[in-house]
Amino acid sequence: MKLTYLGHSCIFIESGEHRIIIDPFLTGNETASAKASDIKCDFILLTHGHDDHIGDTADIARANDATIVGNFEISEYFAAQGLKVHGMNPGGAHDFPFGRIKMTIAHHSSSLGTEKGRIYMGNPGGLLITIDGKTIYHAGDTALFLDMKLIGETSQIDVALLPIGDNFTMGIDDAVKACEFLKARQAVPIHYNTWPIIAADPHEFARKATAVGCDGKPLKPGESLEI
Ligand code: NI
Ligand code: MN
Repeated sequence: MKLTYLGHSCIFIESGEHRIIIDPFLTGNETASAKASDIKCDFILLTHGHDDHIGDTADIARANDATIVGNFEISEYFAAQGLKVHGMNPGGAHDFPFGRIKMTIAHHSSSLGTEKGRIYMGNPGGLLITIDGKTIYHAGDTALFLDMKLIGETSQIDVALLPIGDNFTMGIDDAVKACEFLKARQAVPIHYNTWPIIAADPHEFARKATAVGCDGKPLKPGESLEI
């Protein structure tokens, strides 16, 4: 399986015939390494409703006839636009054609600004994605939480995708603590350096993560990891 970082919290996964994109915020992200119109995928996975995660979801879904997987409210929002959806909520797991997803909790918020004002987009979450016996944990936007220990006890995490940008999510030191709680083999930092408010040094994170036994792997937008 190949995992590519496209910038901010956006991850592209290739496994066999399947192409999966997570939190496709490309248009309007100057650090993104891909254009929404170039994305070919069959599934779009969403952690929560903020626009820096929903991003180009509707356009990519329409162009690819892709299924959108998100919390119940997000799935209803896109179903109302005639798109294919699969709704879940924290604690629930489901087998998809490419593998299994379990939605986890995240401590954050989830809403979307629309012409009718800001609307509720369900609870934020994280995603445990198991494909070909390997498990990726995309934490979404979240604070550090002690239940990450439980996630680490019940899943063997090969790659944890953890926000390090601070202000809206964990900063570096909390993300390093998350690596310890999760007992993740490797960790890729996300949600940093998109804007000055979330500036963070991914190499500082990598050094500190490696010091607690988790291989810190910063990826530049466009770089990939074979899992
Ligand atoms: Ni957010
Ligand atoms: Mn965000």
